[in-house]
Formats: sequence, C-alpha cells, structure tokens
Amino acid sequence: MQPLEWDAETMRQMGYRVIDLLVDYWQTLPDRPIGKRAARATLEPLLAEPTPTAPQPFEQVLDEFLRKVLPNIIKVDHPRYFAFVPAPNEYVGVLADLLSAGMNIFVGTWMVGAGATQVERVVIRWLCDWFGLPDTAGGLFVSGGSVANLVCLAAARQRYPDALARGRVYYSDQTHSCVARAWRILGLREEQMCVLPADEQFQIPLDALQAQIRRDREAGWLPFCVVANAGTTNTGAVDPLNALADLCAEEGLWLHADGAYGAAAILTDEGRQRLQGIERLDSLAVDPHKWLYQPMMAGCALVREFEHLRDAFRILPPYLQDKERGAVGVDLCDYGVELSRNFRALKVWMSLKTHGVEAFRQAMEHNLRLARLAEQALRARPHWEIVSPATMGIVAFRYAPSGWDAARVDALNRALVDAMIADGYAMVSSTILRGRVALRMCTLSYRATDADVRETVRRLSAFAESLTRAAR
Ligand SMILES: Cc1ncc(COP(=O)(O)O)c(C=O)c1O
Repeated sequence: MQPLEWDAETMRQMGYRVIDLLVDYWQTLPDRPIGKRAARATLEPLLAEPTPTAPQPFEQVLDEFLRKVLPNIIKVDHPRYFAFVPAPNEYVGVLADLLSAGMNIFVGTWMVGAGATQVERVVIRWLCDWFGLPDTAGGLFVSGGSVANLVCLAAARQRYPDALARGRVYYSDQTHSCVARAWRILGLREEQMCVLPADEQFQIPLDALQAQIRRDREAGWLPFCVVANAGTTNTGAVDPLNALADLCAEEGLWLHADGAYGAAAILTDEGRQRLQGIERLDSLAVDPHKWLYQPMMAGCALVREFEHLRDAFRILPPYLQDKERGAVGVDLCDYGVELSRNFRALKVWMSLKTHGVEAFRQAMEHNLRLARLAEQALRARPHWEIVSPATMGIVAFRYAPSGWDAARVDALNRALVDAMIADGYAMVSSTILRGRVALRMCTLSYRATDADVRETVRRLSAFAESLTRAAR
C-alpha cells in the first residue's frame, strides 16, 4: 500500500468514529457550556510541537483534538450563542461538505466540473428567484460575506472607467467593515469612501445622501456606487432599498446591498416587508453560511447582469486554453477571484432539497420570534433599555441603573459580556450604537428555544444586578 493510503475497513471505522462523535456532540450541545475564551499563554505551550515525524494512531490524534482544541473554542453553533452572528450548521450541509471534500470536486471550469457548475447555477438561480432578480442575473459561491461584497463591488468598479481616479462611493456608518476593506482592496482611497452617519432607525439618511452626491459632482467627483444594508450586523437594520433604487437610477449609480446577514430573511414575512425593493439591486451579497444554516464557507455574490462579473474578472492564460474547446459552458473561475473552487453549492442544494424550503422558512420565523421574545423579556425587567427593537432577529439593549452616568453604564455593559462568558450558559456581544455601548442578542440558531432566551435574559439581569450592587 502507498504511504498515504488506508485499507477500506480502517477508513470506514475512522469515518464512523467521526460521525458518532459529531452526533453525540450535537445531542449534548445544549447541556454543554458555551465554551471559553482561551488565554494565548496557555494555548501556545499546550499545542506547540515540531512537525510530527513518527505516525500516531488516528484515534489518538482525534482524542488530542477533543482534549486540547475543542475545550478552547467558543461554540458558534451552540443554541445559546447569541453573540455576533451565530452559525448553527445543519446536518445535511455538513454531510455535503464531507462529500465535496471527499471527492475534491473542482468547480472552477466547465470542462472539469460541469455537473457541479450546473448545480451551483441552479442554486444561484433559486436565490435570484427569491430576490426577484431577472433572468440575466447570476452569481457564484465564495467563501463568505466579505468576499461576496468584494466580488460584487469589483463588478461595480469595472463599469465606471474613471472610478479609481475620481470615483466616490456611499454607505452608512452601520455598514460592515468588509465593505470598506473591499473598496481598499479594489484601490479606492479613503477620501473616495463617503460614510454617512445613520439616522435614528440606523438607516442611511436619504436626504443627506442626495445632497452629498450633488455636492460631490459639483466638486468634480464621480459618484458611482451606493452600498445599502440589507440587515446590518449591529441591529439588523435594512436601508430603504426602493428609495435608494430610485435615487441610483436617477443618478446613474450602481446599487449594491450587503445582505450577508439579512437577505435570506426574504423567505419570511418580516424579511419580505423590510427588504422591499431588493429586486431592483445591481448586486447583492448573501450568505448561506449565516441564515441558511450552512457550515462556514458559503457566501454568494449575485449580480443583476451575470456578464458584468465576467467583464471584471476574466483572464485566459495559455494553460487553461483547453477549457475553451469542445463542450464549453460556464467557467465560474472567470466570474470571481478563485480558480480552485470547491463545491460550496452542494450543501445548499442538498440541504434545501432534503428539507424543502418551507422548513427553512419556519426555522427563520422561529429565529425572528425569539428576538421579539428577548425584547419582551428585557422590557419586563427593570433598568433594561431597548436601544434597537427586535429587527431581523437582532435586539440591541443596555442595562442602565438609574443615576449612573454614560461611562459607568458603558463599563457595566461591557462587564456583562465577560460575566456571561465566564458563566458559560449563553453568550451575547456588545457594540457601539450612537456613541454608547449596547449589548446585542442575535437569535439565529434554529436550535435555540424559548426557555434558552428567557433564561439568558434572567441571567443577564442577575449579573447586572450583582455588578451594580458591587459597584455601589
Ligand atoms: C452584514 C454583514 N456583512 C458582511 C459580513 C462578513 O461576512 P463573512 O464573515 O462571511 O465574511 C458579516 C458577518 O457577520 C455581516 O454580518
């Protein structure tokens, strides 16, 4: 047998062991602590070692992972992980990733990966249909929201030949940092990015935007793109897409929306209502690894005119010339930044087919309801202020004991995040809203229950009261 090969029976045993382990993990997840924030000083000596030379039994390596690695992560798939953006992955999606990695399916060119490419095109078409994008629309899978935004914005920049020299782009201060990073990667200077302070609803202020575009034109800038939010990370806010589409049509601007967090909520009543106008976008980032419950590394860049991506990305080197002959189709390497592309669409395809879309809609409605429940539970207790009501599955709030100044309240709320992590039952995260610290709960897990939410709020209150008492 070759050095890296295994016999069939051993391979089966190794695989069964991993599946058993995963199923046990998920079964016991609600009873486990959320995980811990590990100190670098502990972890470095724990895991430092030179490149292994002598072979070790697989079981031993797996055991080392279980003992040394797993206890030192925070479990983003935990039902009570309400921090940042939860990542509750769905089992069929996990198995699809296993298949895709197992067969190492390449989805860069049609020549090599036709069947997989066609599956990806089908899934992209489903998404485009959900958003009401026309037949000319298309897109592709990327690693996640950051790259999805980058790919879409590259297409936007390509449409405006003067963009690098004197282009200007617009978005609110609630926009995810990956958008500024994308513009930076694409060569825009800081002064070309106009960041507008959001209004009271955490939305982009339309009048200020319009006035800014007018002033910029007069000053010789070329306004060329507005980046809207279709669900912000902070509060779930959605910018007024219809009004932005009117403005961008009038001004000849590309309208992109970052829907990495919120766009998938189009399947729900609340999402449909908030995302009105999404069908008018030039491009949209959406992340199946967030609200479609897929394992990480599944974002999608969608554009109204699929060929605009090709205009931005295609280069044909001699060593790929064979793909241009014979049964030619769509070479997805020509539409984005990656040539070696794995089969990310498989998980969405298998997961949606196995469950049917209605199951996803119900899970999302459950998530939205849990955020409203968290808001109600907070409102029912003293000293909690709702900073942003439940919106697209996110509620933002703070504990504000009467008579405390802003700085003390900020410090107390930051301390609450740490107290919750140390407790281990649930996790929330903090952000800054209108200059003040706010906590946020993002109830995206399909595994979370009403009791999980209620008990999390109860513990938050208990810690808040005890921290307040200790500070007096
Ligand atoms: C609104 C929004 N946009 C973009 C991103 C970045 O996505 P990713 O982490 O998949 O790169 C996130 C991540 O949470 C997000 O919430």
